[in-house]
Amino acid sequence: MIELNYRNVKKDIIGEENGLNIDKEFDNYRETIHRIICELNSNKDKPGQKLQWMNLGYNEETIWYVKEYAALVEGRFDNILILGMGGSALGGKAVCEALLPPYWNYLTKEQRNNYPRIFFLDNIDPDQMNSLLNILDLKKTLVNVITKSGSTAEVMAQYMVLKDLMEKQLGDDYRKNVIATTDKNIGILKQLSDQEGYKTFYIPDDVEGRFSVFSAVGLLPFALVGIDIEEITQGVKDMDLSLKNTDIHNNIAAQNALIHYLMNMKRGKNISVMMPYSNRLRYIADWYCQLWAESLGKERDRDNNIVNTGQTPVKALGVTDQHSQIQLYNEGPNDKIINFLRLKNFDSGLEIPNIFEYTGISYLGGKTMEQLYNAEIDSTIASLIDYKRPNVTITIPQITPYYMGQLLYMFEVQTAITGALYNIDAFNQPGVEQSKNYTYALMGRTGYEDSANELKAKLMNTIAK
Ligand code: PA5
Repeated sequence: MIELNYRNVKKDIIGEENGLNIDKEFDNYRETIHRIICELNSNKDKPGQKLQWMNLGYNEETIWYVKEYAALVEGRFDNILILGMGGSALGGKAVCEALLPPYWNYLTKEQRNNYPRIFFLDNIDPDQMNSLLNILDLKKTLVNVITKSGSTAEVMAQYMVLKDLMEKQLGDDYRKNVIATTDKNIGILKQLSDQEGYKTFYIPDDVEGRFSVFSAVGLLPFALVGIDIEEITQGVKDMDLSLKNTDIHNNIAAQNALIHYLMNMKRGKNISVMMPYSNRLRYIADWYCQLWAESLGKERDRDNNIVNTGQTPVKALGVTDQHSQIQLYNEGPNDKIINFLRLKNFDSGLEIPNIFEYTGISYLGGKTMEQLYNAEIDSTIASLIDYKRPNVTITIPQITPYYMGQLLYMFEVQTAITGALYNIDAFNQPGVEQSKNYTYALMGRTGYEDSANELKAKLMNTIAK
């Protein structure tokens, strides 16, 4: 199992002002955590609780359909193109970056074992899109349009560009190159895929985008590039079993949730940094940032009080950001808790050759990059302790589908527990919806006319000021 080490949040290590009396806090919150975990597990099947993500690891039917489709199209496409925003793209991108060999899209087909390249288009920058479209042979590209609401303006705009081009180049056959992943009942994409006859995968009810990585949203792209999705879901299931333990002493998601909550509420740590010490895990930090920000950044609590909760998540990359952000983390405002992701084993080794005998760099010769990496993370942690900065380390045995399932699911449960501690709804996103609606209004969507007029006036005033 992956492990959590929280030693460096203790007051014995980083002092009274910044640290916690963990044993006491675990005792104080024992009952609360027990209740939260019981509630999560007993409510997960109730409609409207938005907890269906807790069942995704067990969804044999989706796994079966995904594998069946992936087998059907195996060898047919050179490229997979994912169109999606936020939760519809970040998990897929994070896991593919972690599990596929680095520089996957630059490898030859043979080096990729005949599996396709994969591109995640999660922006609408015309320069980026035009460049990508120039690279892709659309005849050999499978486009997966992913949107739970079925109407997100960015995704639908991307889809419209792609549909038009593909239809022009491929004629009616273009339909075989499109898959939709969306809601079963609602949304424009659902209507369109019915009309056009696209192969369609469904996102279960009560699964919000940022909690959807283990639905077809993530599993389909993973299977298409040859990632073992059953190993992933096995990791999810094993972690789920472990996190059903209602005793905080034996539940790492509850521990990290409580630590983050207390660091925020009692010690003023308003920022949560995610810092993987592995290049392959760099997009896990992006995924975490969305999960943490969108789930916990809320104006009101469940009793409708204005609370403005949430820590600002920040991504950092070890060792790269030691030479960029660590100066601030050590000496700037003591307002952060840092999460290190540490690997026990890299997949491959690399020895630094012993080529200089009498120079200031000869000490490096004969060591491995892994040794250097470990020295770097240890020294970063040691310096943070010197400056009394709280940090936790999550150790991952190796980057495998199994451990990625464990890791991401652990963060999902941690987020849900933290939301319950804040007494907020971690599963809605009114702030995101607001800006989505404003975009619809400004772009002239029917039904948004009043809002458009108001908004135009507001923007005019702002600009005039
Ligand atoms: O977590 C969420 O719910 C959001 O980030 C959505 O994933 C994002 O806004 C995209 O929404 P949709 O999948 O409806 O296009």
